Amino acid sequence: MCGIIGYTGTSNALPKMMKGLSVLEYRGYDSVGVAAQRGKETEIMKCKGRIGALEEKLRDHPIEGSHCAIGHTRWATHGGPSDENAHPHRAGEVILVHNGIIENYKELRAELADKGVAFLSETDTEVAAALINDCYAVSRDPIKAIRSATARMKGAFAFGILFDGHVGEVYVIRRGSPLILARGADGYYLASDMTALLPFTREYCAMKENEIARLAPDGVRIYLSDQTEVAPDWKTTTMTPESAQKGGYDHFMLKEIHEQPQAVVKSVSPRVGKTGLPDFSSDGIEADFWRGVKSIQIVACGSAMHAGLVGIRLIEDLAKVPTTVHIASEYRYHPPIMPDGTLVVVISQSGETADTLAALRYAKENGVPTLAIVNAVETTIAREADRRIYTYAGPEIAVATTKGYCTQASVLWMIAAAIAHATGRISDEKAREVVQSLLCDVPAAMEQMLSREDRYRKIARGLIDHEHVFYIGRGVDYALSMEAALKLKEISYIHCEAYAAGELKHGTISLIEPGTPVLAISTEKDLFDKTESNIREVRSRGAQVTLICRSDIPVHQETADELISLPVSSDAATVFSALLAIQCIAYETASLLGCDIDRPRNLAKSVTVE
Ligand code: M6R
Repeated sequence: MCGIIGYTGTSNALPKMMKGLSVLEYRGYDSVGVAAQRGKETEIMKCKGRIGALEEKLRDHPIEGSHCAIGHTRWATHGGPSDENAHPHRAGEVILVHNGIIENYKELRAELADKGVAFLSETDTEVAAALINDCYAVSRDPIKAIRSATARMKGAFAFGILFDGHVGEVYVIRRGSPLILARGADGYYLASDMTALLPFTREYCAMKENEIARLAPDGVRIYLSDQTEVAPDWKTTTMTPESAQKGGYDHFMLKEIHEQPQAVVKSVSPRVGKTGLPDFSSDGIEADFWRGVKSIQIVACGSAMHAGLVGIRLIEDLAKVPTTVHIASEYRYHPPIMPDGTLVVVISQSGETADTLAALRYAKENGVPTLAIVNAVETTIAREADRRIYTYAGPEIAVATTKGYCTQASVLWMIAAAIAHATGRISDEKAREVVQSLLCDVPAAMEQMLSREDRYRKIARGLIDHEHVFYIGRGVDYALSMEAALKLKEISYIHCEAYAAGELKHGTISLIEPGTPVLAISTEKDLFDKTESNIREVRSRGAQVTLICRSDIPVHQETADELISLPVSSDAATVFSALLAIQCIAYETASLLGCDIDRPRNLAKSVTVE
């Protein structure tokens, strides 16, 4: 995905662009650029690299006195990171920034090339600019030009557009990609994400699909596809500027790891009824709905999918509802059978992930009820699902998710309890116990785990010189191992495999050699003996073993080289403590290796292409 921003008003536009883009960088950081009006002229400054590279360019060639500008930070899809492919793109009288993807850009490009249009970049965005310019040449009306050009585009987009001769005006449209408008004391804004605008204002209006807006210093006008005008629906966000800053931590990831105990409370407490029982009525979901659920298909990507793998255990164990977990990008290719009573649950922190969105749409086309567990409010996935449960983790800026995953797991835990209670599988007492464990034991246990930095750093020191690392676990610990391996790979670039502890001996154990780091997770008491046997198997082949284990299991000194003991106040507390340990181990490893922790190479926070 990419980040777009724009401003028109009475203040200097460039500082606002730079500030907003620095917040939006988490959405992509391959290249960056701005276009700024100065009187009737529009200057474009763009380059490969991060915002620092653009700042340097602007130091040499400052753009001053602009009150209307658009900006972009890019995650490359069509065309590699380069100065030419960086946004904004100009085509004739149109200058444009884009978040999304134009799927039919090749046909459109060929058609425009036949008409004599020359292209400077390899991007789909330049094609979009050229098509709007082509339509503008006919109508001379920005709104009509945008409407007729976008009618021919397939895919997802949010555009910020300047037209030559339309001084102080920024035009926007969205379809499938997010876009927020905002108003401040000194003008009007657009951005992919409200966090970029928090330094300026908290008053926002979420654009709906296919709406076109014209921003000018005197106000915002929004037009529906039939050209009728609607008044902007201004709201005030509860987010504060601090929520999008590091708050004294070295990295957003570390800050977000530390926010987890509170994030769990924020995601669980709105779902607790007056009597202390699970109650999703504030999300518009009553007990009757849960009673109608006969099977669940969880669909998601990456860490969100891993949260689903924890969820499957809870929902099947507590609620006895058959549940499957699917990788969203695979879901449609082997269409799962969806008998009556199936509920499709999609999970997404960003609410924008293209593969998850496509799976959601597939389920809806097949007439299956859908429920989205989403963090970012009013995003496409949240809007399109039949029902939605927000995780309330607050803005997650680091590319590697921590509090996003953690709150998804806690909401799944609550859903399991809600279904189990609604269907009479668990008593009031047991349901209240689950709620209390999430509200009290989990945050307390996670706080306790946060203070063990030295241990995590010591373990990290044992990983940094290795090319390959293994995580092993059984049951829910296998699901945690997958998340642990993803976290380590993603931010430290060390290759790491997650294995079901019992599966390693069926082939992969041949990779274990003297010194190979193996981290074993054991949060389930009943499974410890078997996991311990697997640890012995790798230890006897020279593996360096770290054991992350419940503190109520007596572990012999010779079982592992390093031991992390987990609080056992409740099952949930133990699982969330293990999660915190694996996140911190990944963080410390990446930190020792000097990696760019918040913005790992080749990645973006959410992947809006399939
Ligand atoms: O925004 P989403 O939850 O839909 O994102 C899904 C994955 O792309 C995401 O969890 C990814 O795996 C993370 N970067 C992992 O830390």
